[in-house]
Amino acid sequence: MSHPNGDTTNPNFEPKLIGFLCNWCSYRAADLAGISRIKYPPNMRIIRVMCSGRVDPTFVLEAFAQGADGVMVAGCHPGECHYIEQNYKTMRRFYMLRQMLVQMGLEPERFRLVWASAAEGQQLADAVTEMVEQVRQLGPLQWHANWQENGQRLEALQAIVQEHQQAMEVPK
Ligand code: FES
Repeated sequence: MSHPNGDTTNPNFEPKLIGFLCNWCSYRAADLAGISRIKYPPNMRIIRVMCSGRVDPTFVLEAFAQGADGVMVAGCHPGECHYIEQNYKTMRRFYMLRQMLVQMGLEPERFRLVWASAAEGQQLADAVTEMVEQVRQLGPLQWHANWQENGQRLEALQAIVQEHQQAMEVPK
């Protein structure tokens, strides 16, 4: 299978992932994984957000545009969000955004939504491990170079996201 985005010829490729983790659950799950010495690859840079619903689609686009090979959004299980139902909005936003990214040529494995409670350190570690391996198989994304070659592309994408935000009633 060919991967239009990736250069799979570099055997030393280490994926760079960005993880937006909810403060109340998945960030604590990551903490628990660390405290419990659960092993998982160190490829994900974690950004703590108060709720997965705080992850604006432009954060995701920015992460890819700045050189991430994959982005994970992780939050409380549906029904357990500390801000009532924000993670249902996260879910709607995720599927719409991923569909849009896939239409632009991004492999779906590069953008992932995970639910992990504070007690699920192992589950979060497993999800990170699996994603790192999948993205490693795909190779580097290299969108960073594409954005630089055609800076208008990001602006066009942001305009589309804004339209989607209005359609999805995403709060600011
Ligand atoms: S508080 Fe965790 S997803 Fe909303």
